[in-house]
Amino acid sequence: MSQRFTRQWWRAPLWTLALATGAKSFIDNPVLGSRRLNRLGLHARRLQLAHGLAARRRRALAAAVPADWRERFDRDGFVVLHDLIPAAEFAALQRRLATTRLPMRAHLQGDTVTARVALEGESLRRLPEAAALFRRRDLRALFAYVGTTRTPPLHYLQTIVGGAAPAERADPQIELHADCFHPSLKAWLFLADVPDDGRPLTYVAGSHRLTPERLAWERRRSETVLDGGDRLSQRGSLRIGAEELGALDLPAPTRFAVPANTLVVADMFGFHARAESDHPTTRLELWSYSRPTPMMSDLPGRVLAAGPLASRRAGWAMKAADWLDRHHLRRQHWHPIGPQLPAAPDLSGHELHSLL
Ligand SMILES: [Fe+2]
Repeated sequence: MSQRFTRQWWRAPLWTLALATGAKSFIDNPVLGSRRLNRLGLHARRLQLAHGLAARRRRALAAAVPADWRERFDRDGFVVLHDLIPAAEFAALQRRLATTRLPMRAHLQGDTVTARVALEGESLRRLPEAAALFRRRDLRALFAYVGTTRTPPLHYLQTIVGGAAPAERADPQIELHADCFHPSLKAWLFLADVPDDGRPLTYVAGSHRLTPERLAWERRRSETVLDGGDRLSQRGSLRIGAEELGALDLPAPTRFAVPANTLVVADMFGFHARAESDHPTTRLELWSYSRPTPMMSDLPGRVLAAGPLASRRAGWAMKAADWLDRHHLRRQHWHPIGPQLPAAPDLSGHELHSLL
């Protein structure tokens, strides 16, 4: 066991209870990070259990999803839908975005600034085309299936300004990685064209499946990640080199250089990254996020989705993070940058906090 385990043995019950949650950090939890336990198969068994339960939840959610979308998702781990919003409504949304100032927050990762506003309450009321989109039954069914939960995703309007800051560190999002050890959802509706040199999203098709090869790779990584892994891998978002993909029988990443009004919905157990570019770029998108509690049934999700809680979660989470920061309990990385035009947030005069 690690020195930390010896020093803080009284925390052992909490570290052990975390096995039943979505806790993923090898470095912050000496039980999850234990070389000995992972050699005995702890990480691998946790994956098998989480993926088995996720598959069961997905089976219960499958019938409501258009068959064509479901087949594409099951095969690739992502679905791409072009021309998602009818052209006239999409044009109206773009016009509205050009003139609507929204209270954004931003943070820095490497040389890249992400500015974001949660789309709920007043912000969502000001973008009725987005509100109508999030009410669509077929999309809600797809989000539920990919995210393995009926709890609706959190929705944001997001601007990613690549190459915006001096690169003291590389943007960690440019390395291929899985977000966590179990299925979860992210979705991007691109609101402007994404050129191939515009830092597009990339995703390794088929890497959402827990194949025997992937399981063996996860097991090996769980035994060695604390020896020489990078910080984010040690926190449970395992990085993989492009040269390792062949051994896992996986193809090169697909690059989502796509026209405006294209939606990409993907399972974040699959390997993904943000492509690099040699010049400053801006991506504007509606971004959705859902990460279920992996070891549970979907019952809490159903209860939450039915109640008023669902429509205020992002704002409350942000306020909770502000409170923790004020009391020096946990750093808040999202810095308010005031009312901004989302397509071109003015970042001057704001000291942004790095996520790392
Ligand atoms: Fe990620």
